[in-house]
Amino acid sequence: MYYKNYICKKLGKIENLESNTNRSNYLKQNQVRLKILAIGLSYVDILMIKGTYQHKNELPFVPGTEACGVIVEENCNNKKLLNKKAIVLTKKGCFSEEVVTDLSKIIFINNQMPSAQAASFFTSSLTSYIALKEIAKTSKDNFVLITGASGAIGQTSIKLANHYKANVICVASNKRKATLLRKIGVKKIIFVKDNIKKKVMEYTENKGVDIILDINGFLKEKNILSCLTWNGKYLIAGFTDNNITSIKTNYILIKSIQIFGIRAGEYLRNTKILHKKKIIDDIFKLYKKNVFKIKPYKIRPFNKLIEELINIRERKSMGKIVITTKHLNENKHG
Ligand SMILES: NC(=O)c1ccc[n+]([C@@H]2O[C@H](COP(=O)([O-])OP(=O)(O)OC[C@H]3O[C@@H](n4cnc5c(N)ncnc54)[C@H](OP(=O)(O)O)[C@@H]3O)[C@@H](O)[C@H]2O)c1
Repeated sequence: MYYKNYICKKLGKIENLESNTNRSNYLKQNQVRLKILAIGLSYVDILMIKGTYQHKNELPFVPGTEACGVIVEENCNNKKLLNKKAIVLTKKGCFSEEVVTDLSKIIFINNQMPSAQAASFFTSSLTSYIALKEIAKTSKDNFVLITGASGAIGQTSIKLANHYKANVICVASNKRKATLLRKIGVKKIIFVKDNIKKKVMEYTENKGVDIILDINGFLKEKNILSCLTWNGKYLIAGFTDNNITSIKTNYILIKSIQIFGIRAGEYLRNTKILHKKKIIDDIFKLYKKNVFKIKPYKIRPFNKLIEELINIRERKSMGKIVITTKHLNENKHG
C-alpha cells in the first residue's frame, strides 16, 4: 500500500517540509497500522520543526504529535483490534496518511466519536487538566489569569476553570480574539497592550490572582508575577518564539510565590498506572460533559497542512486546526 506524508529533512522553516509518497512496511511484533483520518496541528509541531522544542527528533523525521485513525492491520495476535478507532499521541509521525505504532501507545476511543474532535482535543485537555487540577488544585472562586487564552490550551483551560467555578481573567492580543473569548463565556479580558497589573487589580478588587497559567511565555514581555496574591501559583506551560526568561529569587520569596513547570505528557508518564488511568478516564468524562468538546477552529485537507501550520505560527489561528485525510471520507464513522 502507498501513503503520503510530510518529512522534515532540515530544522528551521515549516516551508521546508517535503511531501513524500511511501510504501507501507511490514509490522513488528505488537505493532498496529492505522489509516489516519484526521490530524491535530499544534504549536509544538512548529517548535519541533524549528528544533527549539525541549524534545529533539533525529533528522529526517515526520513531524506531528496528535492524530486519530482506524486500525487496518495488527501483529498482536488479536484480530478484534481491526477497524477500531484510536488516538495516536507521539513525539513524531502524525503528519501522515498512515501511522505504525506499538499497541501500548494508542488510546482507544468509541468508533462514533467524530474524528476531527478525536484528533485535536486530547493534548490540550490533558495540559489544562494537569496544570489546573493536578498541580494548581484550582477551586471554586480562585482567580485564574490565563495568557495566550484564545489558543488551543487556552480554550480548554478556560472551560476547565469555569467547570471548577473559578473566576477566569484572560489575556488576548486583539479584538478578534477577545470576541471569541466572550463567545466561550469569558467576561474579564485584558489586552496585551493594557496595563496588566492595573486591570487585574480592578477585576480582583486589589487581591491579585491565585493562579497564573502562562501558556505563551508572557512573563518575558510583562512582569505578570506582580499580579499574584500572597502564596499565588505561577504555572509555566509553554513558550512561543523562544521567549524564555529568568525570575528573580527575591521576588519569589517576598510574596511566597509557588512556581511550577507543566509537562503534561511527562507528568502522565511519571504517574503510577492507576492514577494515569484515572486522569485519562476523567478527561474523557469531561469531554462527554462538553467541558473539553471544543469545535476545531478550522478543518482543512491534507494538502493544506503546511499553509495551516504557517497560520498558527503567524498567530492567526484561534484554537485547534485539524487536517483531514482521504481516508476520512471512506470511513463510515466520520
Ligand atoms: N506544558 C505542556 O505540557 C504543553 C503541552 C502542549 C503544548 N504546550 C505549549 O503550549 C504553548 C501553546 O500551545 P497551544 O497549542 O495553545 O498554541 P496556540 O493554539 O497557537 O495558542 C498560543 C497562543 O499564544 C499566543 N501567541 C501565539 N504566537 C505568539 C507569539 N509569537 N508571541 C506571543 N504569543 C503568541 C496567541 O494568543 P494571543 O495572540 O492572543 O497572545 C495564541 O493564541 C506552546 O508553546 C506549546 O509548545 C505545552
